[in-house]
Amino acid sequence: MILQKMQPGHIAGVKELLDDCFGESAWSMESIASQLDKADSYCAVAVDDEKVVGYIAFEAIADEGSIVELAVNPEYRRKGMGRKLVELMLTSCSGVRTICLEVRASNTPAKALYEAFDFEPVTIRKNYYDDPREDAVIMIKKVSE
Ligand SMILES: CC(C)(COP(=O)(O)OP(=O)(O)OC[C@H]1O[C@@H](n2cnc3c(N)ncnc32)[C@H](O)[C@@H]1OP(=O)(O)O)[C@@H](O)C(=O)NCCC(=O)NCCS
Repeated sequence: MILQKMQPGHIAGVKELLDDCFGESAWSMESIASQLDKADSYCAVAVDDEKVVGYIAFEAIADEGSIVELAVNPEYRRKGMGRKLVELMLTSCSGVRTICLEVRASNTPAKALYEAFDFEPVTIRKNYYDDPREDAVIMIKKVSE
């Protein structure tokens, strides 16, 4: 298993992973490619036997960062990979003072992972998600200097 900065050659593998994790609402290949291209974005992947099994996308505007996507292949979950991807992102985002994210209210695994990194729920965005319609919980972490 290798955790590494994402390269263009990983785009198709990330698409397959996101399809597995999010089905119809998964990002398109174009969205994945454009996230990788953004100047203030950091994307990393976990690769096992040439297959992309984990992905994190992070971006920052000035000192405010956000996790915009995180996914681990179902067969690789509960083995610490989500934690490793968040740790790698945290070591790669120097100059950021706060990190925010949105997560489905019912997504207990993701909320537990973020809480383990001291992300705190700060507000609810009603009916933010479609298919199925659901509230988003906005979580924020203050990053110490
Ligand atoms: C959320 C997700 C990335 C977690 O990945 P993971 O590799 O399984 O997470 P880890 O094994 O690193 O778990 C780290 C901690 O998160 C919490 N956690 C993870 N999965 C959990 C679950 N199913 N139930 C409760 N807590 C969970 C635990 O605190 C865990 O620590 P522990 O194993 O020591 O108890 C994964 O479940 C996933 O890809 N889900 C689908 C996509 C998704 O929802 N992405 C987030 C969008 S905001």
